[in-house]
Amino acid sequence: MAVKVVVGAQFGDEGKGKMVDWFSGCADMVVRFQGGDNAGHTVINEHGVFRLHLVPCGIFRPGCKCLIGTGTVVNPDVLIEEMEALQNAGIGLENLMLSEKAQLIMPWHPALDEAMESTGGIGTTKRGIGQAYADKYLRRNFRAEDLRDPDVFREKLNPCLEYVNAQLAYYGSAPFSEKENMEKILAWREKLLPLLRDPFEVIHTALSDNLNIIFEGQLGAMKDIDLGIYPYVTSSHPVAAYAAVSGGFPAKRIDSVIGVFKAFSSAVGAGPFPTEMDEADAALLRGTGANPDDEYGARTGRSRRIGWLDLPVLRYANAINGFDELAMTKLDKLDTLHEIRVCTHYRLDGRIITNMPNTRDLYRVEPVYETLPGWMTDTTRCSSFDELPENAKLYIRLIEENVGVPIRYIGNGPNRENVIEKM
Ligand code: GDP
Ligand code: IMO
Ligand code: MG
Repeated sequence: MAVKVVVGAQFGDEGKGKMVDWFSGCADMVVRFQGGDNAGHTVINEHGVFRLHLVPCGIFRPGCKCLIGTGTVVNPDVLIEEMEALQNAGIGLENLMLSEKAQLIMPWHPALDEAMESTGGIGTTKRGIGQAYADKYLRRNFRAEDLRDPDVFREKLNPCLEYVNAQLAYYGSAPFSEKENMEKILAWREKLLPLLRDPFEVIHTALSDNLNIIFEGQLGAMKDIDLGIYPYVTSSHPVAAYAAVSGGFPAKRIDSVIGVFKAFSSAVGAGPFPTEMDEADAALLRGTGANPDDEYGARTGRSRRIGWLDLPVLRYANAINGFDELAMTKLDKLDTLHEIRVCTHYRLDGRIITNMPNTRDLYRVEPVYETLPGWMTDTTRCSSFDELPENAKLYIRLIEENVGVPIRYIGNGPNRENVIEKM
Protein backbone atom coordinates (compact mmCIF):
# COMPACT_ATOMS: atom_id res chain seq x y z
CA MET A 1 0.00 0.00 0.00
CA ALA A 2 1.25 3.49 -0.67
CA VAL A 3 -0.18 6.92 -0.19
CA LYS A 4 1.73 9.29 -2.47
CA VAL A 5 1.23 13.03 -2.62
CA VAL A 6 2.32 14.77 -5.82
CA VAL A 7 2.70 18.54 -5.52
CA GLY A 8 4.21 21.48 -7.39
CA ALA A 9 7.57 22.69 -6.03
CA GLN A 10 7.65 26.10 -7.74
CA PHE A 11 5.00 28.60 -8.92
CA GLY A 12 2.60 26.14 -10.59
CA ASP A 13 2.60 24.52 -14.05
CA GLU A 14 5.54 22.29 -13.17
CA GLY A 15 4.12 19.33 -15.09
CA LYS A 16 2.04 17.75 -12.32
CA GLY A 17 -0.54 16.60 -14.86
CA LYS A 18 1.98 14.71 -16.93
CA MET A 19 3.53 13.10 -13.85
CA VAL A 20 0.20 12.12 -12.25
CA ASP A 21 -0.91 10.56 -15.56
CA TRP A 22 2.36 8.60 -15.55
CA PHE A 23 2.28 7.59 -11.84
CA SER A 24 -1.38 6.57 -12.09
CA GLY A 25 -0.31 3.56 -14.16
CA CYS A 26 0.29 1.95 -10.75
CA ALA A 27 -2.53 3.65 -8.80
CA ASP A 28 -5.93 2.46 -7.64
CA MET A 29 -7.17 5.97 -6.97
CA VAL A 30 -6.22 9.58 -7.66
CA VAL A 31 -7.66 12.36 -5.49
CA ARG A 32 -7.50 16.07 -6.44
CA PHE A 33 -7.20 17.61 -3.01
CA GLN A 34 -7.38 21.42 -3.38
CA GLY A 35 -7.92 24.25 -5.82
CA GLY A 36 -10.45 24.41 -8.59
CA ASP A 37 -10.56 25.06 -12.29
CA ASN A 38 -7.74 27.59 -11.97
CA ALA A 39 -5.73 24.43 -12.67
CA GLY A 40 -4.66 23.45 -16.16
CA HIS A 41 -2.98 20.06 -15.96
CA THR A 42 -1.71 18.98 -19.36
CA VAL A 43 -1.77 15.29 -20.17
CA ILE A 44 -0.56 14.02 -23.54
CA ASN A 45 -1.03 10.32 -24.06
CA GLU A 46 -2.37 7.84 -26.60
CA HIS A 47 -5.87 9.32 -26.19
CA GLY A 48 -4.84 12.84 -27.22
CA VAL A 49 -3.90 16.19 -25.67
CA PHE A 50 -5.91 17.16 -22.59
CA ARG A 51 -5.81 20.11 -20.23
CA LEU A 52 -7.64 18.95 -17.15
CA HIS A 53 -9.07 21.56 -14.81
CA LEU A 54 -10.96 19.50 -12.23
CA VAL A 55 -10.93 15.84 -13.19
CA PRO A 56 -7.97 14.00 -11.60
CA CYS A 57 -5.26 12.98 -14.07
CA GLY A 58 -5.75 9.27 -13.30
CA ILE A 59 -8.93 9.29 -15.42
CA PHE A 60 -7.15 7.73 -18.43
CA ARG A 61 -6.33 4.53 -16.52
CA PRO A 62 -9.28 2.13 -16.71
CA GLY A 63 -8.89 0.63 -13.21
CA CYS A 64 -8.18 3.89 -11.44
CA LYS A 65 -10.86 5.60 -9.36
CA CYS A 66 -10.78 9.41 -9.44
CA LEU A 67 -12.14 11.55 -6.62
CA ILE A 68 -12.54 15.32 -6.74
CA GLY A 69 -11.88 15.81 -3.06
CA THR A 70 -13.29 17.83 -0.19
CA GLY A 71 -10.69 20.62 -0.23
CA THR A 72 -11.56 21.64 -3.78
CA VAL A 73 -13.88 24.32 -5.15
CA VAL A 74 -15.90 22.99 -8.07
CA ASN A 75 -17.61 25.00 -10.76
CA PRO A 76 -20.34 22.58 -11.89
CA ASP A 77 -20.58 24.11 -15.39
CA VAL A 78 -16.85 23.61 -15.91
CA LEU A 79 -16.94 20.07 -14.53
CA ILE A 80 -19.85 19.11 -16.79
CA GLU A 81 -18.10 20.62 -19.82
CA GLU A 82 -14.89 18.76 -18.96
CA MET A 83 -16.79 15.49 -18.52
CA GLU A 84 -18.41 15.93 -21.94
CA ALA A 85 -15.05 16.66 -23.59
CA LEU A 86 -13.53 13.54 -22.03
CA GLN A 87 -16.48 11.41 -23.08
CA ASN A 88 -16.26 12.78 -26.62
CA ALA A 89 -12.62 11.68 -26.66
CA GLY A 90 -13.72 8.17 -25.70
CA ILE A 91 -12.61 8.33 -22.04
CA GLY A 92 -14.95 6.47 -19.69
CA LEU A 93 -16.11 8.33 -16.59
CA GLU A 94 -17.46 5.43 -14.56
CA ASN A 95 -14.60 5.88 -12.06
CA LEU A 96 -15.20 9.59 -11.51
CA MET A 97 -16.48 10.66 -8.08
CA LEU A 98 -17.14 13.99 -6.41
CA SER A 99 -16.88 14.52 -2.67
CA GLU A 100 -20.25 15.62 -1.34
CA LYS A 101 -18.32 18.01 0.90
CA ALA A 102 -16.57 19.79 -1.98
CA GLN A 103 -17.47 23.46 -2.20
CA LEU A 104 -19.27 24.82 -5.25
CA ILE A 105 -18.15 27.78 -7.30
CA MET A 106 -21.43 29.56 -7.91
CA PRO A 107 -22.05 31.71 -11.02
CA TRP A 108 -21.41 34.94 -9.10
CA HIS A 109 -17.94 33.89 -7.90
CA PRO A 110 -16.23 34.26 -11.32
CA ALA A 111 -18.28 37.44 -11.93
CA LEU A 112 -16.95 38.93 -8.67
CA ASP A 113 -13.40 37.72 -9.40
CA GLU A 114 -13.57 39.41 -12.80
CA ALA A 115 -14.95 42.62 -11.26
CA MET A 116 -12.34 42.70 -8.50
CA GLU A 117 -9.48 42.00 -10.93
CA SER A 118 -10.66 44.80 -13.20
CA THR A 119 -10.24 47.28 -10.35
CA GLY A 120 -6.63 46.25 -9.60
CA GLY A 121 -6.02 42.63 -8.71
CA ILE A 122 -3.14 40.18 -8.55
CA GLY A 123 -3.64 38.51 -11.94
CA THR A 124 -5.94 35.67 -10.88
CA THR A 125 -7.36 33.19 -13.37
CA LYS A 126 -10.77 34.90 -12.88
CA ARG A 127 -12.40 31.56 -12.13
CA GLY A 128 -13.86 32.73 -8.81
CA ILE A 129 -11.44 30.66 -6.74
CA GLY A 130 -10.75 33.23 -4.01
CA GLN A 131 -14.41 34.25 -3.85
CA ALA A 132 -15.63 30.66 -3.38
CA TYR A 133 -13.02 29.92 -0.69
CA ALA A 134 -13.90 33.21 1.03
CA ASP A 135 -17.57 32.19 1.19
CA LYS A 136 -16.53 28.73 2.43
CA TYR A 137 -14.62 30.29 5.32
CA LEU A 138 -17.52 32.65 5.99
CA ARG A 139 -19.58 29.43 6.27
CA ARG A 140 -22.17 30.58 3.80
CA ASN A 141 -21.21 28.73 0.64
CA PHE A 142 -22.91 25.81 -1.12
CA ARG A 143 -21.45 22.33 -1.01
CA ALA A 144 -21.98 19.58 -3.56
CA GLU A 145 -24.29 17.79 -1.10
CA ASP A 146 -26.68 20.78 -1.28
CA LEU A 147 -27.58 19.64 -4.79
CA ARG A 148 -29.46 16.71 -3.27
CA ASP A 149 -32.48 18.81 -2.29
CA PRO A 150 -33.55 21.70 -4.58
CA ASP A 151 -35.83 23.12 -1.85
CA VAL A 152 -32.96 23.39 0.61
CA PHE A 153 -30.90 24.95 -2.16
CA ARG A 154 -33.59 27.55 -2.84
CA GLU A 155 -33.86 28.40 0.86
CA LYS A 156 -30.13 29.15 1.01
CA LEU A 157 -30.10 30.88 -2.34
CA ASN A 158 -32.42 33.78 -1.64
CA PRO A 159 -30.62 35.41 1.30
CA CYS A 160 -27.36 34.73 -0.49
CA LEU A 161 -28.42 36.58 -3.63
CA GLU A 162 -29.11 39.67 -1.54
CA TYR A 163 -25.51 40.15 -0.46
CA VAL A 164 -24.10 38.83 -3.75
CA ASN A 165 -26.09 41.34 -5.79
CA ALA A 166 -25.18 44.15 -3.39
CA GLN A 167 -21.50 43.31 -3.94
CA LEU A 168 -21.96 43.12 -7.71
CA ALA A 169 -23.77 46.46 -7.72
CA TYR A 170 -20.78 47.99 -5.95
CA TYR A 171 -18.65 46.99 -8.97
CA GLY A 172 -21.34 47.98 -11.45
CA SER A 173 -21.84 44.34 -12.52
CA ALA A 174 -25.15 42.71 -13.44
CA PRO A 175 -27.18 40.96 -10.68
CA PHE A 176 -28.12 37.26 -10.56
CA SER A 177 -31.72 36.06 -10.25
CA GLU A 178 -33.25 33.15 -8.35
CA LYS A 179 -34.83 31.81 -11.53
CA GLU A 180 -31.61 31.51 -13.54
CA ASN A 181 -29.81 29.88 -10.63
CA MET A 182 -32.55 27.35 -9.93
CA GLU A 183 -32.54 26.39 -13.62
CA LYS A 184 -28.81 25.79 -13.42
CA ILE A 185 -29.12 23.76 -10.26
CA LEU A 186 -31.62 21.41 -11.87
CA ALA A 187 -29.23 20.83 -14.77
CA TRP A 188 -26.30 20.28 -12.37
CA ARG A 189 -28.34 17.75 -10.35
CA GLU A 190 -28.93 15.61 -13.37
CA LYS A 191 -25.24 15.38 -14.26
CA LEU A 192 -23.57 15.51 -10.85
CA LEU A 193 -25.80 13.63 -8.39
CA PRO A 194 -24.56 10.25 -9.71
CA LEU A 195 -20.99 11.30 -8.87
CA LEU A 196 -21.59 12.30 -5.25
CA ARG A 197 -19.83 10.20 -2.61
CA ASP A 198 -19.11 10.32 1.09
CA PRO A 199 -15.36 11.10 0.91
CA PHE A 200 -14.66 9.54 4.31
CA GLU A 201 -16.01 6.20 3.16
CA VAL A 202 -14.15 6.33 -0.19
CA ILE A 203 -10.79 7.26 1.29
CA HIS A 204 -10.90 5.18 4.46
CA THR A 205 -12.05 2.10 2.57
CA ALA A 206 -9.16 2.56 0.15
CA LEU A 207 -6.74 3.00 3.07
CA SER A 208 -7.96 -0.11 4.87
CA ASP A 209 -7.84 -2.10 1.62
CA ASN A 210 -4.18 -1.03 1.30
CA LEU A 211 -4.75 0.51 -2.11
CA ASN A 212 -2.28 2.74 -3.94
CA ILE A 213 -3.60 6.27 -3.68
CA ILE A 214 -2.19 9.41 -5.25
CA PHE A 215 -3.16 12.83 -3.97
CA GLU A 216 -2.82 15.31 -6.83
CA GLY A 217 -1.97 18.87 -5.90
CA GLN A 218 -2.83 22.02 -7.81
CA LEU A 219 -0.46 25.00 -8.32
CA GLY A 220 2.82 25.05 -6.36
CA ALA A 221 4.42 25.80 -3.00
CA MET A 222 5.17 29.46 -3.72
CA LYS A 223 1.47 30.15 -4.28
CA ASP A 224 0.22 28.68 -0.98
CA ILE A 225 -2.11 31.11 0.79
CA ASP A 226 -0.06 31.03 4.03
CA LEU A 227 3.38 29.91 2.93
CA GLY A 228 3.68 31.53 -0.48
CA ILE A 229 4.22 35.03 -1.88
CA TYR A 230 1.13 36.55 -0.26
CA PRO A 231 -0.91 38.31 -1.61
CA TYR A 232 0.09 36.98 -5.08
CA VAL A 233 -1.13 33.53 -4.14
CA THR A 234 -4.14 31.33 -4.57
CA SER A 235 -6.68 30.78 -1.78
CA SER A 236 -5.83 27.20 -0.88
CA HIS A 237 -2.91 25.05 0.28
CA PRO A 238 -0.96 23.39 -2.53
CA VAL A 239 1.29 21.61 0.00
CA ALA A 240 1.47 17.92 0.89
CA ALA A 241 0.14 18.17 4.45
CA TYR A 242 -3.15 19.56 3.13
CA ALA A 243 -3.79 16.26 1.32
CA ALA A 244 -4.42 14.73 4.75
CA VAL A 245 -6.69 17.58 5.87
CA SER A 246 -8.69 17.49 2.65
CA GLY A 247 -8.78 13.68 2.63
CA GLY A 248 -9.75 13.40 6.29
CA PHE A 249 -7.01 10.95 7.25
CA PRO A 250 -4.00 11.13 9.58
CA ALA A 251 -1.00 12.92 8.07
CA LYS A 252 1.25 10.07 9.20
CA ARG A 253 -0.49 7.78 6.69
CA ILE A 254 1.31 9.61 3.86
CA ASP A 255 4.10 7.34 2.64
CA SER A 256 5.82 9.57 0.14
CA VAL A 257 5.77 13.12 -1.12
CA ILE A 258 6.91 13.84 -4.65
CA GLY A 259 7.81 17.39 -5.62
CA VAL A 260 7.43 18.18 -9.31
CA PHE A 261 9.57 20.97 -10.74
CA LYS A 262 10.53 22.27 -14.14
CA ALA A 263 14.17 22.37 -15.24
CA PHE A 264 13.75 26.18 -15.31
CA SER A 265 11.11 28.42 -13.68
CA SER A 266 7.79 29.82 -14.86
CA ALA A 267 5.02 31.84 -13.25
CA VAL A 268 1.72 33.40 -14.23
CA GLY A 269 0.26 36.51 -12.62
CA ALA A 270 1.85 39.31 -10.62
CA GLY A 271 4.34 39.00 -7.78
CA PRO A 272 8.07 38.64 -7.18
CA PHE A 273 9.93 36.22 -9.44
CA PRO A 274 13.63 36.63 -8.62
CA THR A 275 15.16 34.62 -11.45
CA GLU A 276 12.99 36.06 -14.24
CA MET A 277 14.94 36.18 -17.53
CA ASP A 278 15.11 39.01 -19.96
CA GLU A 279 12.56 38.67 -22.73
CA ALA A 280 15.03 37.54 -25.44
CA ASP A 281 16.07 34.46 -23.42
CA ALA A 282 12.54 33.84 -22.19
CA ALA A 283 11.14 33.79 -25.72
CA LEU A 284 13.39 30.84 -26.62
CA LEU A 285 12.13 28.70 -23.75
CA ARG A 286 8.53 29.85 -24.02
CA GLY A 287 7.94 28.94 -27.66
CA THR A 288 5.23 30.44 -29.82
CA GLY A 289 2.22 28.66 -28.37
CA ALA A 290 1.96 26.37 -31.39
CA ASN A 291 2.98 23.29 -29.37
CA PRO A 292 1.08 21.92 -26.37
CA ASP A 293 4.24 22.12 -24.25
CA ASP A 294 4.94 25.79 -25.01
CA GLU A 295 4.80 28.13 -22.03
CA TYR A 296 1.30 29.54 -22.27
CA GLY A 297 -1.20 29.14 -19.43
CA ALA A 298 -3.12 25.86 -19.76
CA ARG A 299 -6.10 27.62 -18.12
CA THR A 300 -6.01 31.20 -19.37
CA GLY A 301 -3.70 31.04 -22.39
CA ARG A 302 -1.62 33.84 -20.85
CA SER A 303 2.03 33.97 -21.79
CA ARG A 304 4.03 32.61 -18.83
CA ARG A 305 6.86 34.54 -17.20
CA ILE A 306 10.08 32.54 -17.56
CA GLY A 307 13.11 32.36 -15.28
CA TRP A 308 16.22 30.33 -14.55
CA LEU A 309 15.99 27.47 -12.09
CA ASP A 310 15.73 28.86 -8.56
CA LEU A 311 17.28 26.54 -5.97
CA PRO A 312 16.25 28.67 -2.95
CA VAL A 313 12.66 28.09 -4.11
CA LEU A 314 13.21 24.33 -4.36
CA ARG A 315 14.89 24.20 -0.95
CA TYR A 316 11.99 26.15 0.56
CA ALA A 317 9.43 23.92 -1.15
CA ASN A 318 11.26 20.92 0.29
CA ALA A 319 11.38 22.46 3.75
CA ILE A 320 7.61 22.95 3.82
CA ASN A 321 6.61 19.72 2.02
CA GLY A 322 9.29 17.19 3.01
CA PHE A 323 9.98 15.66 -0.40
CA ASP A 324 11.03 12.04 -0.61
CA GLU A 325 11.66 12.31 -4.32
CA LEU A 326 11.73 14.93 -7.03
CA ALA A 327 10.40 14.73 -10.57
CA MET A 328 12.04 17.17 -12.96
CA THR A 329 10.17 17.99 -16.17
CA LYS A 330 11.27 19.71 -19.37
CA LEU A 331 14.94 18.81 -19.28
CA ASP A 332 14.67 18.63 -23.10
CA LYS A 333 13.76 22.33 -23.29
CA LEU A 334 17.34 23.15 -22.26
CA ASP A 335 18.85 21.00 -25.04
CA THR A 336 19.74 23.94 -27.29
CA LEU A 337 21.25 26.30 -24.68
CA HIS A 338 25.03 26.81 -24.73
CA GLU A 339 25.03 27.87 -21.11
CA ILE A 340 22.55 27.32 -18.32
CA ARG A 341 22.27 29.55 -15.27
CA VAL A 342 21.11 28.25 -11.91
CA CYS A 343 20.35 30.46 -8.95
CA THR A 344 22.02 28.86 -5.95
CA HIS A 345 21.39 31.61 -3.36
CA TYR A 346 19.84 35.00 -2.83
CA ARG A 347 21.77 38.05 -1.68
CA LEU A 348 19.86 40.67 0.29
CA ASP A 349 21.38 43.97 1.38
CA GLY A 350 24.80 42.65 0.40
CA ARG A 351 24.59 39.39 2.38
CA ILE A 352 23.84 35.83 1.30
CA ILE A 353 20.64 34.75 3.02
CA THR A 354 19.49 31.22 3.79
CA ASN A 355 15.82 31.80 4.61
CA MET A 356 12.98 32.50 2.17
CA PRO A 357 12.38 36.24 2.63
CA ASN A 358 8.95 37.82 2.84
CA THR A 359 7.25 38.99 -0.34
CA ARG A 360 8.48 42.57 -0.10
CA ASP A 361 12.11 41.49 0.33
CA LEU A 362 11.79 38.86 -2.36
CA TYR A 363 11.38 41.73 -4.84
CA ARG A 364 14.73 43.07 -3.66
CA VAL A 365 16.87 39.92 -3.57
CA GLU A 366 19.72 39.56 -5.98
CA PRO A 367 19.98 36.00 -7.31
CA VAL A 368 23.48 34.49 -7.15
CA TYR A 369 23.98 32.35 -10.24
CA GLU A 370 26.23 29.48 -11.15
CA THR A 371 26.67 29.05 -14.90
CA LEU A 372 26.90 25.51 -16.21
CA PRO A 373 27.81 24.37 -19.70
CA GLY A 374 24.88 23.23 -21.81
CA TRP A 375 24.83 19.85 -23.54
CA MET A 376 23.61 20.79 -27.04
CA THR A 377 22.22 17.28 -27.51
CA ASP A 378 18.68 16.04 -28.16
CA THR A 379 17.73 14.38 -24.87
CA THR A 380 14.30 13.30 -26.13
CA ARG A 381 16.07 10.29 -27.66
CA CYS A 382 17.49 9.12 -24.31
CA SER A 383 15.67 6.36 -22.50
CA SER A 384 17.88 5.98 -19.40
CA PHE A 385 19.86 8.20 -17.09
CA ASP A 386 23.09 6.66 -18.36
CA GLU A 387 22.28 7.76 -21.91
CA LEU A 388 21.93 11.44 -20.93
CA PRO A 389 24.80 13.74 -21.92
CA GLU A 390 27.40 14.30 -19.17
CA ASN A 391 26.53 17.99 -18.78
CA ALA A 392 22.87 17.13 -18.26
CA LYS A 393 23.93 14.67 -15.53
CA LEU A 394 26.04 17.46 -13.96
CA TYR A 395 22.98 19.74 -13.94
CA ILE A 396 20.85 17.05 -12.29
CA ARG A 397 23.50 16.25 -9.68
CA LEU A 398 23.98 19.92 -8.81
CA ILE A 399 20.24 20.21 -8.11
CA GLU A 400 20.17 17.03 -6.03
CA GLU A 401 23.13 18.18 -3.94
CA ASN A 402 21.68 21.64 -3.40
CA VAL A 403 18.19 20.51 -2.49
CA GLY A 404 19.18 17.30 -0.71
CA VAL A 405 16.51 15.19 -2.43
CA PRO A 406 17.03 12.62 -5.20
CA ILE A 407 15.60 13.35 -8.63
CA ARG A 408 14.01 10.01 -9.45
CA TYR A 409 12.02 10.99 -12.52
CA ILE A 410 13.20 13.11 -15.44
CA GLY A 411 10.85 14.42 -18.11
CA ASN A 412 12.50 14.57 -21.51
CA GLY A 413 9.48 15.35 -23.66
CA PRO A 414 5.78 16.19 -23.33
CA ASN A 415 4.36 12.72 -23.94
CA ARG A 416 3.51 10.07 -21.40
CA GLU A 417 6.43 7.89 -22.42
CA ASN A 418 8.94 10.74 -22.01
CA VAL A 419 9.88 9.95 -18.43
CA ILE A 420 13.27 8.55 -17.44
CA GLU A 421 13.38 6.76 -14.12
CA LYS A 422 16.68 7.18 -12.31
CA MET A 423 17.45 4.48 -9.77
P1 GDP B 1 0.72 21.40 -14.37
O1 GDP B 1 -0.25 22.48 -14.17
O2 GDP B 1 1.73 21.30 -13.27
O3 GDP B 1 0.10 20.08 -14.69
O4 GDP B 1 1.58 21.81 -15.67
P2 GDP B 1 0.99 22.40 -17.05
O5 GDP B 1 0.35 21.30 -17.77
O6 GDP B 1 0.22 23.63 -16.80
O7 GDP B 1 2.33 22.87 -17.74
C1 GDP B 1 3.38 21.98 -17.96
C2 GDP B 1 3.71 22.03 -19.46
O8 GDP B 1 4.90 21.31 -19.68
C3 GDP B 1 2.66 21.37 -20.33
O9 GDP B 1 2.61 22.08 -21.53
C4 GDP B 1 3.23 19.97 -20.56
O10 GDP B 1 2.80 19.42 -21.80
C5 GDP B 1 4.69 20.25 -20.60
N1 GDP B 1 5.58 19.17 -20.14
C6 GDP B 1 5.52 18.44 -19.00
N2 GDP B 1 6.61 17.65 -18.88
C7 GDP B 1 7.38 17.90 -19.97
C8 GDP B 1 8.66 17.44 -20.41
O11 GDP B 1 9.33 16.64 -19.75
N3 GDP B 1 9.13 17.95 -21.60
C9 GDP B 1 8.42 18.84 -22.34
N4 GDP B 1 8.93 19.28 -23.48
N5 GDP B 1 7.21 19.30 -21.95
C10 GDP B 1 6.72 18.84 -20.77
P1 IMO C 1 -1.82 24.60 -12.05
O1 IMO C 1 -2.53 23.63 -11.12
C1 IMO C 1 -0.15 28.59 -12.61
C2 IMO C 1 -2.02 31.76 -10.24
C3 IMO C 1 -2.72 32.90 -10.95
C4 IMO C 1 -2.52 34.01 -9.92
C5 IMO C 1 -2.68 33.29 -8.60
C6 IMO C 1 -4.08 33.35 -8.01
O2 IMO C 1 -2.10 24.39 -13.48
O3 IMO C 1 -0.35 24.64 -11.69
P2 IMO C 1 -6.38 32.18 -8.59
O4 IMO C 1 -7.15 32.10 -9.88
O5 IMO C 1 -5.99 30.87 -8.03
O6 IMO C 1 -7.07 33.03 -7.57
O7 IMO C 1 -5.04 32.97 -8.99
O8 IMO C 1 -2.32 31.94 -8.86
N1 IMO C 1 -2.51 30.42 -10.59
C7 IMO C 1 -1.80 29.54 -11.33
N2 IMO C 1 -0.61 29.68 -11.97
N3 IMO C 1 -0.79 27.39 -12.60
C8 IMO C 1 -1.96 27.22 -11.94
O9 IMO C 1 -2.51 26.02 -11.72
C9 IMO C 1 -2.55 28.35 -11.31
N4 IMO C 1 -3.67 28.54 -10.58
C10 IMO C 1 -3.63 29.80 -10.16
O10 IMO C 1 -2.09 33.17 -12.18
O11 IMO C 1 -1.19 34.47 -9.97
MG1 MG D 1 -0.98 24.16 -15.16
